[in-house]
Parts: sequence; structure tokens; C-alpha cells
Amino acid sequence: MKILAIESSCDEFSISIMQDGNVLSNVISSQIKEHSEFGGVVPELASRLHVDNFHWVLTKSLYDSKVSLEEIDYISYTSNPGLIGSLIIGKLVAQTLAMFLNKPLMEMNHIQGHIYGANIEEKFEYPVLALVVSGGHTQIQWLEKPLDFKIIGSTQDDAVGECYDKVARVLGLKYPGGPKIDELSKKGDSSKYKLPISKNDNTYDFSFSGLKTASLNLINKLNQNKETLNIEDFCASFQKTAIETLMLKFEKAVNEYKPKTITVVGGVSANSSVRENIFKIGEKYKINKIIVPNMEYCTDNAAMIAELTNEYLKLK
Ligand code: KG4
Ligand code: ZN
Repeated sequence: MKILAIESSCDEFSISIMQDGNVLSNVISSQIKEHSEFGGVVPELASRLHVDNFHWVLTKSLYDSKVSLEEIDYISYTSNPGLIGSLIIGKLVAQTLAMFLNKPLMEMNHIQGHIYGANIEEKFEYPVLALVVSGGHTQIQWLEKPLDFKIIGSTQDDAVGECYDKVARVLGLKYPGGPKIDELSKKGDSSKYKLPISKNDNTYDFSFSGLKTASLNLINKLNQNKETLNIEDFCASFQKTAIETLMLKFEKAVNEYKPKTITVVGGVSANSSVRENIFKIGEKYKINKIIVPNMEYCTDNAAMIAELTNEYLKLK
């Protein structure tokens, strides 16, 4: 059984071909360079670049997989959540292919795709507790069994990656600022600047707008008083607070839900402190499987959408 999956929810256009659960190709066109001069993703530009890119991505994906279009059995695409213009381009490509080939078309959820990105190279032992951390999402999901998604916690305002990027922008770091803050934080003193942990309550929800505002206020105040900000110490202090905000809730969920697998997915899972903490929590609670996928399957990509599609087809 061969699946052709499309992911286009934000600034990546990606097509993956999967055969019987094996990724044959996963071609991703990234737009980081085009958006970086604007300090963030510009939705209109993202959809226009998808229009320019979809054709070579499709051609290369077929070429890499050594599969012809006529051999495809199912077409799937990300239908939600995401930037509407970007989603529509993916949907149009998917619908056109499905009509032309007369093959079934399946709609997939982007966040559920991120979670199943962790099931590509290693396999879940259920129940699974997943921390989804990206530029657009911050959630904890519980899966008692395959595809049984339950959102137990979610950000009430900004996503963690968004908070990193917005703070980085004020520090004069280029988009995406997350990796740059992570790098600078390694050389800094994390106790230098005091920043608040928001929503330290009994829920599994998160809040990052308080950390963002406190960070921006601190940077502006120092600037106004002509005091110098030690950027490395600031990044270390910011990272310590942001990751503690995430881990407080995730550890609480691990302790109470007792999963067999824990995983972290989405772009922010590239963060050195996130990775370190996930393994620490996994070892502390003696979790059978700790899955931190390869970066190719963490940031937006179509292989995760193909894997999710494959899981739905298995269930049928
Ligand atoms: O999943 P992703 O590629 O796209 C979205 O769906 O949003 O995630 C991108 C986000 C950006 O906010 C970026 O700054 C953040 O992931 N990111 C990081 C790191 N690497 C990427 N944040 C913190 N530390 C990192 N090392
Ligand atoms: Zn994503």
C-alpha cells in the first residue's frame, strides 16, 4: 500500500511517499531564508512560495521514492490547524492528484501528525504521553491506544516557540530565534535575571505571554537606563524559565498518568534543555520508552502525515 502525503500548514511545503509503513521519500522545501528578514513567518509570502515550490517537491519526492504517480493508493494532506492560505495550497494539490488518479483523499490533523512523527523510527508502546512544542503549538496529549487523542493541557496564549522567537527578535537575533537563544544560553549564568514561571497551578495548561512580556520589559528597561544586558546570561535565564514552565506540567502529567512511552515533538524539541529534561523525567519515572525523533521528523514534514495516514488505514 502506497501513500502520498502532503504537509503545507505553515512555511514548509513537503511531500512524502510511504509504502507499508516505510518512508520512501520525505522532501521538504523550507522558507526560513525568505521569512527571516521579516522576523517571522509572513502568511501571504508563505502561500505564494508554496505555489512556486509544490511542483519540484512533488517531482523530487516521486523520483527519490522510485514510485510513479499511478502506483499511489491513497492521497492525504494536512487540513488543520495552520495558516489558511498555506493549507489551501496543500489541499488543492492533494485534491487535484486524487481526482486525476481517482484515488481516495484523506484529511489529517497537523498536531496529530507531529505526534505520529515519533512513531516512524521507533514504535509506541501504549499508553503514550506526548509533549508537542513548536512555533505554533504547546500541548500535552494522552493516547490510551492508537489514534485515541486526548488533549490534557494546552497553552492559553503564546506557544513556547513563538515566545522564543519574539524575545529573540527584541534581542536582535534573526528568525527563528529559538536555536540562537539555545546556543547563547550554554555560555550564560541562568541565575542572573529573574523571570516569572506562569500558570504554576494544578492544571496541565501553559502560559508563555507572561514570560514574553517580562522579558521584553526587562530588555527595554535596561536599554532605557543605558545599562548593558549580558545576552548570554539573559538567554540562559530565559531558557531556564521557559523549559521549567514546560517540564513542571509535563512531569506532573507523567507522574499522574503513568505512560509506557513519553515523547516530545515539534521544532522546540531540538532544544538542548528540552531533550536533557525529557530523558531525566523518563529515567526518574522508569518509563519504558523515551522517544525524541530525528529533527527531520520533528519540524514540519510530510512523513509524519504519511505515518498518521498509515495508522488510520491500519485501523480500518
Ligand atoms: O515545528 P516547527 O518547525 O514549526 C511550527 O510548526 O511552528 O517549530 C519551529 C519553532 C520555532 O519557533 C523555532 O524558534 C523553534 O521551533 N526552535 C527552537 C529550537 N529549534 C527550533 N526553540 C528553542 N530551542 C531550539 N533549539
Ligand atoms: Zn508544526
